[in-house]
Amino acid sequence: MIMLNIFKRLFGKTQQKVDFENLPQHIGIIMDGNGRWAKKRGLPRTSGHVAGAKTFEKIVEDAGNIGIKVVTVYAFSTENWQRPKEEVDALMTLLEDYLDNGLSRLAGRDVRVHFIGDRSAFSDKFQEKLCHMEKATMNNSGLLLNVALNYGGRNELTNAVKLIAQKVKEGELSYEDITEDTISSYLYTAGQPDPDLIIRPSGEFRLSNFLMWQGAYSELWFSDCLWPDFTKEDLLRSIYDYQQRNRRFGGV
Ligand code: FPP
Repeated sequence: MIMLNIFKRLFGKTQQKVDFENLPQHIGIIMDGNGRWAKKRGLPRTSGHVAGAKTFEKIVEDAGNIGIKVVTVYAFSTENWQRPKEEVDALMTLLEDYLDNGLSRLAGRDVRVHFIGDRSAFSDKFQEKLCHMEKATMNNSGLLLNVALNYGGRNELTNAVKLIAQKVKEGELSYEDITEDTISSYLYTAGQPDPDLIIRPSGEFRLSNFLMWQGAYSELWFSDCLWPDFTKEDLLRSIYDYQQRNRRFGGV
């Protein structure tokens, strides 16, 4: 009870301090720490991912309610295939569960879901489910949720370079006309604002190939909290801290 009251006081404080007129437009989240969360409890790593998936849905709901326009979550990287088969299978099962049942849980939440990453690694059936969820939510305008699947920032840039080179080869684009905007327009996040804030829990201080181009000027926010324990209070705290930063974009 005492803990609950302390939590309520803390929560209320950050909520009051956040300037809701000046929110980051786009927040990127590296959902890290599931394995350690499970290990601390003597559970298999896969239980950590199950708990992490629940936190993902809760934080997406919170972000929408707070008024964030775009959230990008790192759900499965191009490097995650190297994990033991059992763990990869468990992650795929969780993702399929989201594709099969997520729409009903999102009902009435005004969330548009978009998947970013190289889909060609997934089965046709899985890819159809990705398209189905995107189509079913495409007219929602509240929160744009990018779920990064088989995503890697370097892979994304390599693909963009190949597509641009193809256009130049075919004479549809002149190499002198290639600008930073051209490159942005060939990324999975084309047309979206760059992330203002990237959150990484679990005490690690790196980007791990997440939004390498888009995150050039993102504010980074780290926390020791393991992803399954991440709460709305942590999200509000990160937004509050972001609002105290002085973003100069290379200027003075
Ligand atoms: C990193 O933690 C987390 C992942 C590689 C997977 C993240 C996936 C989820 C949270 C589930 C997403 C589900 C949906 C439906 C989008 P880790 O396993 O590397 O943790 P550790 O560093 O403690 O080992």
